Amino acid sequence: MTPAPTLGGSLVTVPGYRDVPQPDWDPEAPVDPAEAEDFLRLFHAESPQATDLTGRLAKVRAEIADTGTYQHTHAELVFGARVAWRNASRCIGRLYWRSLVVRDLRKVEQPDEVFDELVNHLTLAGQRERSVIRPMISVFAPHRPGTPPAARLWNEQLVRYAGHRQPDGTVVGDPRYVDFTEVLHEYGWQGKPDQPFDVLPLAIESATGEVKLYELPEAAVWEVPLDHPELRWFAELGLRWHAVPAISNMRLSIGGVSYPLTPFNGWYMGTEIGSRNLGDPSRYDLLPVVAERMGLDTRSDRTLWKDQALVELNRAVLWSFDRAGVRISDHHGESERFLAHMASEERNGRETPADWTWIVPPLSGSATPVFHRYYHEADQRPNFYLDVEARRLGTQGRPPALPPPPLPMEIPATPKRGLFARFFRRTSR
Ligand code: ARG
Repeated sequence: MTPAPTLGGSLVTVPGYRDVPQPDWDPEAPVDPAEAEDFLRLFHAESPQATDLTGRLAKVRAEIADTGTYQHTHAELVFGARVAWRNASRCIGRLYWRSLVVRDLRKVEQPDEVFDELVNHLTLAGQRERSVIRPMISVFAPHRPGTPPAARLWNEQLVRYAGHRQPDGTVVGDPRYVDFTEVLHEYGWQGKPDQPFDVLPLAIESATGEVKLYELPEAAVWEVPLDHPELRWFAELGLRWHAVPAISNMRLSIGGVSYPLTPFNGWYMGTEIGSRNLGDPSRYDLLPVVAERMGLDTRSDRTLWKDQALVELNRAVLWSFDRAGVRISDHHGESERFLAHMASEERNGRETPADWTWIVPPLSGSATPVFHRYYHEADQRPNFYLDVEARRLGTQGRPPALPPPPLPMEIPATPKRGLFARFFRRTSR
C-alpha cells in the first residue's frame, strides 16, 4: 500500500478513513500480491501455530499469477475476519474481537441456500431461549476477479423495518427505508403498511440477476417491546426494536481477497436505538412525541426538552432490553471497555485506529472517557468496506427492469405484452 501523504509528520489524508473516499473497488482487478503478502506476514506474526511463511508466500504468489486470486486457509479466514473487526475504526465494541465466531460458508452460493444460512446466522447469533447474543460473522463465497458476483444481498442489515409511505405523504415505519420498501412493492411485496415495525424481507440477487424476496421466519427475528421503568404511558407508544444488529452489505477485504457477502453482528449499545434509530429526525423522530407525553415545554430548544426526552428514550431501551434478558451495553460501560481495548492493544504493540466522530456516543459524549482524547486515524487491513453500489442498494434497491422496447420494424405478437410484465433481471450494474 502507498503510504499516506504527511505534512509535518501528521497524516493528511487516509483513503477509506472517514470522508476521504476509498478508491472504488475494482471487481475486475486481480488480487494485489503485495497486499496478500502483508496479510500473510501479519497472520504468521500473530499466530504461533502457523509455520512455513516462505512456502505459503510462494504458493499464494503462484496461485495469484495463475488465477488472479487465491484461497485462504480456514485459519487465515478466521484470523482475517477477526482482525477486520479489530481494524473497524468506527466500532466502539472491539474489546472482544478475538471471540468473533466465524462461519465458513465459502461454498454457499445459491440464493435459496444463502437465505437458509442467513436465517441460521440470526438464530445462532441471537439465541432467545438461552438469552445469548454472540458476535458472529458468516463468510459466503469470495469474489473471483473478472467473474460476476455470486448471490448478493441488498439489505443493509438482516433485520430492518419497512418505511410505508401513506397516501397523505406521511411514513409509517422507518423513513430510512421508504425507497427500499417502494421498490420491494414493485417486486410484489406488500408487507403490513399500517405497522411501524414491519420486518423487511431479504432481497437476494442471483449471479444471473434474478431478484427473489424472502420473508424471515418469526422465530429468527428476536424483538423487544419497549417500556419505561417509571413513565406509565410509555408502553402505549407501541415501540419495539430488534435484538441483533447484523450489518449485511459491507465487503470484507482480507489480504487482497474480497468477500462481498459477510453479514456480521455484535450486540447493541443502547444509544444506537434510543438516540439514533428512534430519536433522529430522519428516522422515527420520537423526541417531540416523548416530550409531549412528558409534558415538557417544547416552545424553545433552550428548555432542553430534546435532551430530557433523549434520556428517557434511552432509559426505556436499556430497561426494556434488560427486562427481556437481551444483552445490550450502555455508552458508559462500552466507553470504559473501549479504553481497556486500546490499552490491551498497546501492550501488544499495536495502535488502535479509531474515528472520534463515530466512537463518541450520541448521548452525553463528554460524560464518557472516549470524548477526551484523540485517536490514531488510519485505514488498516483487513477491514470492512461499504461500496458505493452496496450502499445504494441497501436503501434504494433497484426497480425491476422493464423488457426492452420492441425494435422499430418489429410487430409485437401481443400488443400489451411486456408493458406491465415484470422482468426481475438485472439490466445494468
Ligand atoms: N447502528 C446500527 C443500528 O442501530 C447497528 C450498527 C452495528 N452495531 C453494533 N452494536 N454491532 O442498527
